[in-house]
This record gives sequence, structure tokens and C-alpha cells, in this order.
Amino acid sequence: MGKLNGKTAIVTGAGRGLGRVYALRLASLGADVAVVDKSLTSYREFQAEADLMTAESTVKEIENLGRRALGFELDVADRGALEDMAKAVFDTWGRIDILVANAGGGSGTPMTTRASDLAAQDLTLVIERNLYGTIFSVNAVAPYMKQARTGKIVTISSGSGGQAGEAGGYAHYGTAKAGIAMYTRYLAQDVGEYGIHANCLAPGYTDTGRLLQLSTDAPGTAQKNALRRNGTPEDLANVIEFLTTDLSSFVTGAVIQADGGTVLGAV
Ligand SMILES: NC(=O)c1ccc[n+]([C@@H]2O[C@H](COP(=O)([O-])OP(=O)(O)OC[C@H]3O[C@@H](n4cnc5c(N)ncnc54)[C@H](O)[C@@H]3O)[C@@H](O)[C@H]2O)c1
Repeated sequence: MGKLNGKTAIVTGAGRGLGRVYALRLASLGADVAVVDKSLTSYREFQAEADLMTAESTVKEIENLGRRALGFELDVADRGALEDMAKAVFDTWGRIDILVANAGGGSGTPMTTRASDLAAQDLTLVIERNLYGTIFSVNAVAPYMKQARTGKIVTISSGSGGQAGEAGGYAHYGTAKAGIAMYTRYLAQDVGEYGIHANCLAPGYTDTGRLLQLSTDAPGTAQKNALRRNGTPEDLANVIEFLTTDLSSFVTGAVIQADGGTVLGAV
């Protein structure tokens, strides 16, 4: 018996990277999983992500684990599309137990996104993709969880949401991620009376295929934390497992850092 047998989950941004690993972890624990991404084959953008795939999509990988899976291509900045997706998941499986609102990410470089000189285009894109996308995802599933009087919601912040980056770079991303952490605290207070848990995971620098391919400073980031190594997607999936199962029965409104004890975060 898996810890999540009979449960259903929605994971956004699960076409590659951390979201994919979260979706696979939930499926390995017994959940049926709806994979949401603006591209269900987003792994194709990075050869190092493509190399990790064991099938042509996360949806197929979940099915190969013996679980049911659904795939939805949508932009999490589109509230209506998320509402349609949640309805389709509920109509198909009859329940929505878990949401991991993981889709997100930055834009530009630290040099081009300093706090005193943020292009409106970057600001809008990153606030919409992270903060609005998280809130819209939660709002789409909340009616079903409230009706069932149970649910586990996990949002995703970042080390950058708690600590400013060097020279104020990536300010739009850090601000959006700080907003997600605070939003989650409010959410927990709102939905607690329905038996719904809402927590936020704030990862430190984590070696996804994308970052291994793009980053020139992976050894440097490892030196900034107590454990002297970068996180792995499985390290973070361990926290997702905790936050989506009964192990976290009395934990809500928490922002959990999983960053190896990073002191100077610029993720
Ligand atoms: N990797 C890290 O070190 C790290 C650290 C801290 C926080 N995070 C956060 O964790 C999450 C996942 O990170 P990752 O490294 O796997 O990123 P990634 O870029 O590799 O994957 C993100 C996925 O989300 C999808 N996506 C992006 N914008 C979307 C949108 N508007 N609508 C729908 N789908 C969208 C992408 O297509 C992609 O498949 C992000 O929220 C990121 O900010 C990552």
C-alpha cells in the first residue's frame, strides 16, 4: 500500500525539472497525477533534461509506474484555463487531494534585473508566472478541496524569496517568490477550517538538468551552504512527500527551506 493510494494530485510545471520529479514521486507513492505545463515536452529545451527522461513525457512515465495520468498544456497565468483543468481532473477522477504549484522561474540575468532598473516586460512575466500562477492554481482547486473538507497544497518559493541576491539582481524573481511564501501563510489561515493544509517549500540551488547545463557557478553555490553540496531533485521530493502525506498532519502555514543551510542565497 503506497502512502498516497487512492489520492489524486495536480503538479504544475511538471514537464521537466523539479516538477517532473515531484510528479513521479507522488505517483510512486500511489497517487494518480495530472501533469500541467505550458509544454508537456518542455524537457526538449535542454539536452540534460531530455537525457533524464524514461519515456516521451512525464505523463507516459507516470503511466509506466502503473498510475493514471492526465496532461494539460496551459499557461498558469491563465486563470480560466486552470479552472477548466481542475474541473476536468475532478470530472475524470472525482477528487483533487493534492496540488503542488511548482510552475515558475525567472527571466533575464542578475545584471539585467537589478531592483532599481527592472524592465516592465520582465517584471510582468515573472510576477505572472510565479505569484499569479500560484494563486490562480490554488483558487482553481480550492472549491473541490473545501467541498471534500481535505486537501494538501504545496507552493514553491526560493532562497531568493527570503534573502536578497547579490547587488540586487533578479529582484523581480525574489519579490515574486517572497510573495508566494507570504500568500501561503494567509492561505493556511483561510483554508485550515476545511481541513486543508497549505505549506511552502523554498528550495536552494538544486541540480536539475537545466541548471547543470546552464550554470557556470554550480561549485560556487555549493560552497555557500553548510552541507557543501547542491541540492538534488530527490532531496526536494523528500520534502514534497512529507508535505503531501499524513506525516505533516499538524504542519500548515510553514515555509520550509531545503537549501543545505545556505547563508548567501542567490538562486
Ligand atoms: N532549480 C532550482 O535550483 C530552484 C531553486 C529555487 C526555486 N526553484 C523553483 O522551483 C520551480 C521549478 O524549478 P525548475 O528548476 O524545475 O525549473 P524549470 O525551468 O526547469 O522547469 C519549470 C517548468 O515549468 C514550466 N512553466 C514555466 N512557466 C510556466 C507557465 N507560465 N505556465 C505553465 N508552465 C510553466 C516550464 O515549461 C517547465 O517545464 C520553479 O518555481 C523555480 O522557481 C528552483
